[in-house]
Amino acid sequence: MDIREEIGKIKKEKDAVILAHYYVLPEVQEIADYVGDSFYLSKIAADLQCKTVVYCGVSFMGESGCLLSPDKAVLMPDITADCPMAHMVTEQEVMSAREKYEDLAVVCYINSTAEVKSWSDVSVTSANAVKIVRELPNRNILFVPDRNLGRFVAAQVPEKNVILVDGYCPIHEKISADEMRRLKEKHPRALIAVHPECNAEVTAMADYVGSTSGIIAYAAKSSAEEMIIGTEVGVLYELEKQNPGKKFYFPDTAPVCTDMKLITLEKILHVLKTGDNAAGVTADHAAAATRTLTRMLELAK
Ligand code: 13P
Ligand code: SF4
Repeated sequence: MDIREEIGKIKKEKDAVILAHYYVLPEVQEIADYVGDSFYLSKIAADLQCKTVVYCGVSFMGESGCLLSPDKAVLMPDITADCPMAHMVTEQEVMSAREKYEDLAVVCYINSTAEVKSWSDVSVTSANAVKIVRELPNRNILFVPDRNLGRFVAAQVPEKNVILVDGYCPIHEKISADEMRRLKEKHPRALIAVHPECNAEVTAMADYVGSTSGIIAYAAKSSAEEMIIGTEVGVLYELEKQNPGKKFYFPDTAPVCTDMKLITLEKILHVLKTGDNAAGVTADHAAAATRTLTRMLELAK
């Protein structure tokens, strides 16, 4: 039996649903029940009616799945797939800011560990960060861990004092402005759409800055026939699916998240068969981290 058929058969037997982020391999996106950006997947995880969730993504996504779906088994095809940025803030940095500012709100990007979420007041994704920060009653905001998304939010919400830490996504950060400029010279009619995890020079030259699903929606709505994309190459699968006639260009030093690419059909089949690699969150962090995530879902409505 073909591996896709086998996955489909066991999925039914085990009452399982497969979620996948846009950055995983095309063949994984192809067999997933739901594919989306971090915000979409967190909403889906909270609403699912099934026994098992196979989360094709990195560890903070599995943790969020567990917290938002505590009655289900959340299985990670590769338990070592992790987001380095999720760890780029310390409790000391959060405590120091809380001591300094009386009205502080600690806002954590969903790309953070459950422990970081447990120190925070509300979580955000790149799709809802501006809206949520704007609506918070607090003037002082500690935004962790992504300094690039934090800088982008600060520029959209000038009435707030947004304090940053030094975290960043190594994949988006290294997208080079020079390379993007060379692509624009080669394809002058192309528009530039980038993720807010990119560095300041790259976001400054973009026609559109937004989350993964924001970029996909922008490409579909735009009348431009060519687009230069500044995010992880996995989005190309959906961009081409939705826009058969259009051309998409990525930097030659292609932005590839090696952790997302660890997920394969074989590993999905393995966890479905065995129930291995269940994601979990320690009891010390679970309640506070769940509040942080639930507040995001409420404020994003
Ligand atoms: P979004 O899914 O919010 O676009 O974020 C991209 C990302 O880096 C996920 O790890
Ligand atoms: Fe983390 Fe960057 Fe990979 Fe997203 S693309 S999971 S932010 S390392």
